[in-house]
Parts: sequence; structure tokens; C-alpha cells
Amino acid sequence: MGVEILGVGKYIPPRVLTNSDLEKILDTSDEWIITRTGIKERHIAEEWEKASDLALKACEEAIENSKLNKKDIEAVIVATSTPDMIFPSTACFLADKLGLNKPMAFDLSAACSGFIYGLTIGSSFLKSGQFKNVLVVGTEVFSQILDWSDRSTAVIFGDGAGAVVLSLTDSDSDILSAEMKSDGSHWGSLNCPVGEKLRMRGRETFKLAIKSMETASKKALEKANLTLDDIKLIIPHQANIRIINAIAERLNVPEEKVFSNIHKYGNTSAASIPIALYDVIKEGKINKGDNILLTAFGGGLTWGSIVLRY
Ligand code: ACO
Repeated sequence: MGVEILGVGKYIPPRVLTNSDLEKILDTSDEWIITRTGIKERHIAEEWEKASDLALKACEEAIENSKLNKKDIEAVIVATSTPDMIFPSTACFLADKLGLNKPMAFDLSAACSGFIYGLTIGSSFLKSGQFKNVLVVGTEVFSQILDWSDRSTAVIFGDGAGAVVLSLTDSDSDILSAEMKSDGSHWGSLNCPVGEKLRMRGRETFKLAIKSMETASKKALEKANLTLDDIKLIIPHQANIRIINAIAERLNVPEEKVFSNIHKYGNTSAASIPIALYDVIKEGKINKGDNILLTAFGGGLTWGSIVLRY
């Protein structure tokens, strides 16, 4: 049997922070941010809002969308780098807020690659016969770990959550392949020590991001025995529009084949791919049976690609 995305949900906090708002607190400009990153605005959670609060709203929609009952969800995997607490896990808080029936629940720390790591793990749980339905979530409140006086990082990130209900299926849907990697020796290029703020060496990360997403995407396609001609749409982590366009160039596909919504949300880290997947589905850009390629890169370093038949 394969695995199928039965439901999707997203939650974007309503408070918008535009580039012009940032011009008032930092030595930056709307023009610099748009040309160097592609971001026009991002959304910021309230100070009291935690990753589990954003995830709750995304998951309620995903479960409703899946037509399953809450009691059918047997595992909750939360990808986040901005957990509510060091422990208990954000997944435990989330499962309780959702009123689930004591599922297995844990957090997954793989920065911006967290959601695709989570999909791979969720799919393996299903295929091993362990569970029938799992919730995979990416949720982040990066606004709470940013140094708001550092213009090189404060302009990039935004808050949000995205979720999918992943289930065993006898339909054609499936995760056809996954190529997941890490390299801890580059930890210094992007990190956030406990109790401190995020630090990033942007230029270095930029180059590593393009190379690793290109390589993992080619490998995942090879494992699935497919070529880019078989792929309807590529959904990359929304890190920077120049990174997204460079991936299109390296893979030799037209830019329209690579989805982007970074102008609206900025980089929402582990939430970026499920939010993009939600938008792609709701905008009717993919239909059941289409092959898509997901690719992400983040602190760790971590990176990977998934070929998925939706
Ligand atoms: N406004 C105006 N000027 C700025 C800003 C700003 N917001 N930020 C930096 N600058 C300046 C720099 O100070 C520098 O000035 P200098 O030449 O006088 O020294 C100049 O702009 C160029 O700086 P760079 O850092 O080289 O700019 P770059 O074009 O590389 O863009 C950016 C910076 C946007 C951070 C880019 O490097 C990037 O997107 N990197 C990758 C980020 C990423 O993918 N991270 C991984 C995922 S995130 C995660 O896992 C949590």
C-alpha cells in the first residue's frame, strides 16, 4: 500500500510586517529586501502565541479536510525549531489542545528541512504497519528567536504553520522516494544556541542551499526512476527567491515549474513547505495523481528531497 495526503491545513497569524515597517526599525529598504530576497511582507505571531497555538489551527483544518475523526490520528510529528518548551514536546501540547486520543507525539528538530524529514518518518511508520493515520506538522514562531537589531536575519523570517494528515491508501498516491541528508560540520553557518538568538552566515548558507537541494533533487528523482519531465511542480523551501530561481536554473526547468509564495510569508522554516503545499493544492496547481518534488535545506546542516505522487 502507498501513503496519501488526505487533508491539508495552514495557519498564518494575521499581524503583517511589511518591508516599510522594517525600514522604520532597521537600516534597510523595501528595494533591498525585494531584490535580494523576494520578500514583500511576513506575518508575525502575538507574543503570547506559541508554536503549538499556530499548529492547532492548521491541524484542525487538516483533520477536518481529511474527513477523519480526531480519534483516528495515531501519531503526531511536529517539525519545529521554535518549540513551546525544551520539554514537554510541542507535539504533546498540540495533541492535548486538539483533544486527540493519546497518540504517539514527538518533536523533530531539522530546521527548515523538518517537514520533509517528518513526511519521510510518517510514511515509514505507515508502511511498516505501525499506524494508519499520522499528522505531520511544520510550525514556527521565528519572530521570537530573531535579533530584531540584525538586518541580515530580521528581514528574512516569518511565522506560520502548515499540516497534513498522512494515511495508508490503496490509491495511486505515494511517497515514491526520499533523499535525506545532514552535515553537522557546517553547524556554524546557521544556528540558535539555547536561550539565545538566531545567527546566520547568509552568503555561505546561500551557496550550500543551492548545491544541496540540486543534488538531493536529482538523487530523489533517480531513486523514483523518474525525470523532471514527469514532475508537475517543484515545491522548494521558501528561503530566498534567488535560491529558488537558481534551483530552477540548475535543474534546467522553467521558473513557472518551481512554486513560490515567499513574497507573502518570508521564510517560515519548517512551516514553509506545508504552507506552500497548501497554497498549491488550494490554487488548483496540482491534482490527484500528479508527481511533485519537494526540496528543503536548513540549519544542521540538513537537506533533502521527496518525490511524491499526490
Ligand atoms: N538591508 C540592507 N542591506 C543589507 C541587509 C538588509 N536587510 N542585510 C544585509 N545587507 C548588506 C550587508 O551588510 C552587505 O553590505 P556590505 O557589502 O557593505 O558588507 C550587503 O548587504 C550584502 O550582504 P550579503 O550578506 O552578501 O547579502 P546577500 O545577497 O547574500 O543576501 C541573504 C543576504 C538574504 C541573507 C542571503 O545570503 C540568503 O538568503 N542566504 C540564505 C539563507 C538561507 O537559505 N538559510 C537557510 C534556511 S533558514 C533555516 O534553516 C533556519
